[in-house]
Amino acid sequence: VPDPDLDDEFQMLLNASGVEATTIPVQDAAMVRLGQALFFDKILSGNRDVSCATCHTPLAATADGLSLSVGTGGRGVAQARSAPMDADGEPILIPRNAPDVFRSQLSTMFWDARVVDHGGGEFTSPAGDQLLAGLDSALAVQAMFPVTSRDEMRGQVGENELADLEDDNFHGIWSGLMDRLLAIEEYSQLFAVAFPGTDSKSLTFVHAARAIAAFETDIESLSSSPFDAYVAGDIAALSESAVRGGVLFYDAAGCARCHSGNAFTDEAFHNRAVPQLGPGKGGGIDGSFDFGREHATEDPLDRFKFRTPPLRNVAASGPWMHDGAYTSLEGAVRHCMDPVEGLLAYDSEQLADLVKLTIRPEHDAAILAAVDQTDVQGVQLTEEELQDLLMFLNGLTTRSLGELSLRVTPSSVPSGLAVSD
Ligand code: HEC
Ligand code: HEC
Repeated sequence: VPDPDLDDEFQMLLNASGVEATTIPVQDAAMVRLGQALFFDKILSGNRDVSCATCHTPLAATADGLSLSVGTGGRGVAQARSAPMDADGEPILIPRNAPDVFRSQLSTMFWDARVVDHGGGEFTSPAGDQLLAGLDSALAVQAMFPVTSRDEMRGQVGENELADLEDDNFHGIWSGLMDRLLAIEEYSQLFAVAFPGTDSKSLTFVHAARAIAAFETDIESLSSSPFDAYVAGDIAALSESAVRGGVLFYDAAGCARCHSGNAFTDEAFHNRAVPQLGPGKGGGIDGSFDFGREHATEDPLDRFKFRTPPLRNVAASGPWMHDGAYTSLEGAVRHCMDPVEGLLAYDSEQLADLVKLTIRPEHDAAILAAVDQTDVQGVQLTEEELQDLLMFLNGLTTRSLGELSLRVTPSSVPSGLAVSD
């Protein structure tokens, strides 16, 4: 039996938080078609062995189901993906967890927000003043960078013409990619239709990135969830347990302090005492730390802080946290209830074998020393309340997500390279 008082309370909390029914703007069909081809085409990687969809597969809610991603040299998709080995026989892993790409509402990109949209066409990005003009969203700016990363897509010196370029030669990498693309007749046509009025000599990787962003936004618009339906007025869309969980989320459990707004993020930075694992992002003497936001700002006060992740489709896009330290949503939420205790009691047995080797408990003391108490405030919940909270989070999953792969995976791409392997 539905409880009208509970719904009233939840509606009030949602109103107070400014949550409203959202629609994603409709994208231009020709842009989406080009973006879809690019997203699934391994031609964007130096060695022609990795596409965006390798790590953002629609089979796994546009993430990859792995704690840490595997880039060029790896084989297989999603959880069946295996990593290449380095000279010492260690697996080569990307330092961070691959998020989903439903990000069109955000003005920051990456776990450390090294891409920021300041409005008015102003962006911060790893390319500094080399960033080309004409980009129109953080999502499009983001798409300029996976292709420049050696371990993700570009490869090592000696392997291909893009990998032979210096790391800071962004223009060289982007124009090398356009040479590859425009040598293929089908891409020339797709670009011409998506950008009528731009002659082929004026096309840059910016046009490719904008098309990729249009595709990512288009598939996000499939994002209607029980939560969206509820916000739009269909109060039967969420179970009573999920509504109780929602009340906790916005009120007693304090989750919406950070996971606020329609995208469930304040786009601000917090050290939530998440255990570190993986090769690190070059922080510390041996480079084994991931300092998070500090890598983008060089401000030690930002050490171990990560951008609050959005939570739409969160139940479908695990493992969770910036390094995939948690392989169950329940484990991740238990950590959120008491971050410091979560770090101290962390059980690395949950990790896949190769990743287990990279757990770094020796980093715990440094993480705790940097913690700001307001960022790790916990909340005590009964087991029933925890289950309610999980029901709420499950209600954020797009209803048609299970069909995403069928709907958006092309049967072939213009380069003729395999779409899946
Ligand atoms: C080798 C795996 C891999 C490949 C290939 C890859 N990504 Fe990612 N992607 C990741 C990882 C890991 C992150 C998080 C990195 C970070 O935050 O430092 C990420 C982050 C992102 C984000 C930001 C999400 C957020 O929450 O801010 C978007 C969007 C994205 N990728 C899109 C793409 C596109 C588009 C391509 C192809 C041009 C691509 N990715 C290729 C692994 C990959
Ligand atoms: C002080 C800000 C803050 C509060 C309060 C907070 N979170 Fe978070 N949350 C974050 C940040 C930052 C991360 C990423 C931490 C990391 O990866 O190092 C995160 C990660 C998560 C994740 C993993 C998401 C993913 O995609 O990997 C979930 C789930 C989550 N939070 C749920 C909750 C719930 C439920 C609550 C309330 C009990 C809560 N959070 C309270 C800031 C916060």
